Amino acid sequence: MSDVLLLNGPNLGILGRREPEIYGTDTLADIERAVAEEVAPRGWRVIARQHDCEGALIGAIQSSYDTVGAIVNPGALMIAGWSLRDALANYPRPWMEVHLSNVWARESFRHESVLAPLASGVIVGLGALGYRLAARALVSTVA
Ligand code: DQA
Repeated sequence: MSDVLLLNGPNLGILGRREPEIYGTDTLADIERAVAEEVAPRGWRVIARQHDCEGALIGAIQSSYDTVGAIVNPGALMIAGWSLRDALANYPRPWMEVHLSNVWARESFRHESVLAPLASGVIVGLGALGYRLAARALVSTVA
């Protein structure tokens, strides 16, 4: 059985009660279930990790080199998470960057991701559906 890493960064553990007008009402548990549903037909399981600290996110990546791929919402670490970027650069499998909100329709400090150039794909602005679509993208791209 293969595993997919679902990694969520700072402030995403409080989804459902975090600015629902921006991030929606789905909780992280709802999202984890949705991703698990998407990958189950492929025989994959989800390893779900959420951390508010960059170091813990890096640790999760370093201990997941045997996963088939990853879905990463780095939260605000997209903006200047250089250590997270370096960790993802050494992650040997495809990974998708997801943002619930359309970051380009928001404040200008959210307009650049230091991680996105390394991602296999980026999905923004589609809410929780974005995670399902990222899971589908991994299912269809991973050999
Ligand atoms: C986010 C967008 C980021 O700018 C923000 O800091 C988050 C959530 C999103 O999913 O829309 O924490 O990554």
